[in-house]
Amino acid sequence: MGLAGKRILLGITGSIAAYKSAFLTRLLIKEGAEVQIIMSTSALDFISPLTLATLSKRPVLHEFQKDETGVWNNHVELGLWADLMIFAPLSANTLAKMANGQCDNLLLATYLSARCPVWFAPAMDLDMYQHPAVRKNIQTLQSFGHKLLDAESGELASGLSGQGRMMEPESIIDELKQFFEKEQDFKGKKVGLTMGPTQEALDPVRFISNHSSGKMGYALAEALIERGAEVWVISGPVSIPVNKEKFHWEDVHSAQEMFQAAKAVHTQLDVMIFAAAVADYAPASVASEKIKKQGEFLEIQLKKNVDIAQELGKLKKPNQLHVGFALETVNEEENAQEKLSRKNFDLIVLNSMKEKGAGFRLDTNRVTIFSKGGQKVVSEIAPKKEIAGLILDEIKRESSWTLV
Ligand code: PMT
Repeated sequence: MGLAGKRILLGITGSIAAYKSAFLTRLLIKEGAEVQIIMSTSALDFISPLTLATLSKRPVLHEFQKDETGVWNNHVELGLWADLMIFAPLSANTLAKMANGQCDNLLLATYLSARCPVWFAPAMDLDMYQHPAVRKNIQTLQSFGHKLLDAESGELASGLSGQGRMMEPESIIDELKQFFEKEQDFKGKKVGLTMGPTQEALDPVRFISNHSSGKMGYALAEALIERGAEVWVISGPVSIPVNKEKFHWEDVHSAQEMFQAAKAVHTQLDVMIFAAAVADYAPASVASEKIKKQGEFLEIQLKKNVDIAQELGKLKKPNQLHVGFALETVNEEENAQEKLSRKNFDLIVLNSMKEKGAGFRLDTNRVTIFSKGGQKVVSEIAPKKEIAGLILDEIKRESSWTLV
């Protein structure tokens, strides 16, 4: 398996480390990958397109081209062609443009059109690499679900020594091999996922809700697609950027709507993940007109909502696997364990409100995953996409699937 037949778009930007992209290209071709190189204009000052075209066995692109009909759309085709797009080396300049959606060359236009996973291997001087603006841009790319191939430490072109060297091509190849081997492990699996908050209407203009952004759920949805699953997403109202086309996607508002949508697809699923922060209570009645300002206090009566996970847990078949989440403020482990058994989960993912860098809205999380068999896995603080990968690894371990 490895990289044979994989279509890789290699983006090369203006950095002295561009010489390493020649080695990377040679290794990719040796592994059987198809490589299409796109260079930024400033990359042309660092390495010759002729060298790269010879190594990749394809013409190297760096500017928009008209086809025979006069249409300027090769960036869209390239974006659809690739199994993975990798920027190596990525300069601070192109990093900033990617983080802000700028589009002043073919490489950036292709990036914005790409539907495949995107990886980036920055290369720059040590102080540039630590600058808050660069750190922020790196975090922004990670929040888009892109994978950072972190710069290594060592001697730099400036003569200084520190972190900023582009990851070595051999290490990038190892990461790519692992990725594409993993990619297949959810192929043929049907996975359902609830995500985001629910909104429980009080009147036509107000609702009760919570702080869930949907980032954790969406990271899981993306990781599932990348590893080959067919995914049904049932999402509460979220304002993060999402690409609904990759999924069977249903937007809902209330817990009741989320329950109906989840129930409708549940029977055909291999795995159901309950990542949504569902309101436990909803207004007992919804006012038909906007509630007017009255005296000093306003009493609202709340009524218990349906517990989606618990109800579907009763319908769970022996070949189905249910994964729950728990967000606790006290007695975290005890409460998570209680939910694991009461809701008939196979795994529960506990995230703490007390932990810095974990929980609602953030791009990072730290989780503890408990299995019904008594296993416990504790993660580091990491981007939600990485946490999603860890959760999928645990789902695979817990299930009795035959690996492909
Ligand atoms: O969206 P983000 O900003 O990225 O934040 C992620 C998150 C913190 C929202 C997410 O990771 C998370 O922890 N979601 C569950 C939050 C929660 O409050 O869970 P809970 O302890 O109330 O519920 C336990 C489980 O039962 C959950 O899987 C929940 O989806 C499910 N549940 C709860 C109540 C209900 N009425 N129906 C349910 O299905």
